[in-house]
Amino acid sequence: MDIDFFKNEIRNTLSKKRYEHSIRVLETAITLGKIYKVDLNKVAIASLLHDYAKEFKREDLINLSKEHFSNETEEYLSNVEILHSYIGTYFASEKFNIKDPEILNAIKYHTTGRKNMSIIEKIVYLADAIEPKRDYPYVEKIRDLSLINLDKAILLEVTKKIEYLLKENHVIHVNSIEMRNWLLKVS
Ligand SMILES: [Fe+2]
Ligand SMILES: [Fe+2]
Repeated sequence: MDIDFFKNEIRNTLSKKRYEHSIRVLETAITLGKIYKVDLNKVAIASLLHDYAKEFKREDLINLSKEHFSNETEEYLSNVEILHSYIGTYFASEKFNIKDPEILNAIKYHTTGRKNMSIIEKIVYLADAIEPKRDYPYVEKIRDLSLINLDKAILLEVTKKIEYLLKENHVIHVNSIEMRNWLLKVS
């Protein structure tokens, strides 16, 4: 499918700020995709669509989650930050007829990660976390690691994220904990 088509779609759907973020995620993910030799077309589509639902109304995100992802989202309905990934997958599939599981899963798990992620899932997850405008402690170290070892980069990112979520007393998604446990074994 045509990358320019999806660029146009998100340009017309997202705010300027979110559109520009998505383009930076695309560029970061393509750099990683070349290093780790994966299908760049899949990486590009998943990157462009990853935040497609990010600016949907809270109410719509909750209703669509209940309707289409009730089992996966029932414990997280008050965490809209998590829901937009699921609804992004739904739109990729229903509106754009994308049925490729690698693309759909890269969108679906870009916020929480999960254990046993594919390389494309890892790349989109990480590109979202390290695109050039991201600025938080250890981001430089995570960027450096991403060029040599995706697993080590994600392990550091998710460890710092969990530390932050604990400190702020926020909910931690079980997928992120399972991903970290898995990466501790394999990285
Ligand atoms: Fe997102
Ligand atoms: Fe994002």
